[in-house]
Amino acid sequence: MQLPDCYPFFLGYIEEKLPSYLHHLPLEGSLREAANYSLMAPGKRIRPTMLLAMFASLTKRLTCCTCPTVADMEHIVPNPLHAACALEFIHTYSLIHDDLPAMDNDDFRRGRPALHRAMGEAMGILAGDALLTAAFLVVSRSYAHHHTLSAKISEVLSEAALAMVEGQVMDTIPSGDKPRSLQYLESLVDKKTGALITASLHIGGILADSREQVITHLLELGSHLGRLFQITDDILDVTGHSEQLGKTPGKDALLEKLTFVSLAGLDGARQLALETRDRALGSLTELDIDPRFFTALINFFHDRTY
Ligand code: IPE
Ligand code: IPE
Ligand code: MG
Ligand code: MG
Ligand code: MG
Repeated sequence: MQLPDCYPFFLGYIEEKLPSYLHHLPLEGSLREAANYSLMAPGKRIRPTMLLAMFASLTKRLTCCTCPTVADMEHIVPNPLHAACALEFIHTYSLIHDDLPAMDNDDFRRGRPALHRAMGEAMGILAGDALLTAAFLVVSRSYAHHHTLSAKISEVLSEAALAMVEGQVMDTIPSGDKPRSLQYLESLVDKKTGALITASLHIGGILADSREQVITHLLELGSHLGRLFQITDDILDVTGHSEQLGKTPGKDALLEKLTFVSLAGLDGARQLALETRDRALGSLTELDIDPRFFTALINFFHDRTY
């Protein structure tokens, strides 16, 4: 399993910049502490990385063997980093709420006690509320001089966040009360996981001022990547180790979830992952970008162990 060459650059850049976005929010005391606890815990930062990397690929800043530098990324107007950080806020909120006792009742997240275990259930709910709202404050403030862009990014982010919630609703319906079909599971996963992953590519495309046809290809690639990401997540819930995952494996079976593994078995899920990886690689060829970063990312989505 190999991370794309420039992934550490994007990861480091996002980790370095996230605190300043938090710093400028009107949050006080324990609410600020709670938001910081979950946001700055070690996540993979896949969604903001995808946004920045797709923007950089479409604008030819990410081409051959040299990664962009901080200087390359810093002076772009309007800067894609604002939207990337807003997206990570929304994703982090989704994780905090996903772990609550009323949902997956998970005790660990990103290698730490889940926020509700560390600071109580009320703070878990409220910090999630704050991060979701903060994402839209970041977008409206940061792109204040670019009204059309700000409105478009807000629309894509809010539609994706709503789809994620819809997917989570489908996920919480007891397995016995919903169809046990691949088609149903895919529609659930496209919402709960695919929506935010697709939004990352979509917003990268909007910021790069891409044509409608390019956006269509980005949405198609995002849909394959969202499915692949969740198939691997479901497999790792069975085969993974808590130290590496930073979360508790075995939860899906305990909660009798409808997953790719419970539906198709471990081997069936692995086969589906291979097929989905190939579909994603196929979609990538439709885009006029240097394919190396995203080829490696697709393979990481398939081979990852955390
Ligand atoms: C976990 O997302 C939730 C799913 C959609 C499966 P990630 O695996 O991207 O979580 P972090 O951000 O790295 O913690
Ligand atoms: C969660 O899916 C997707 C979200 C919207 C957060 P999971 O419930 O499988 O994610 P993990 O395994 O807890 O990270
Ligand atoms: Mg869940
Ligand atoms: Mg969960
Ligand atoms: Mg999972």
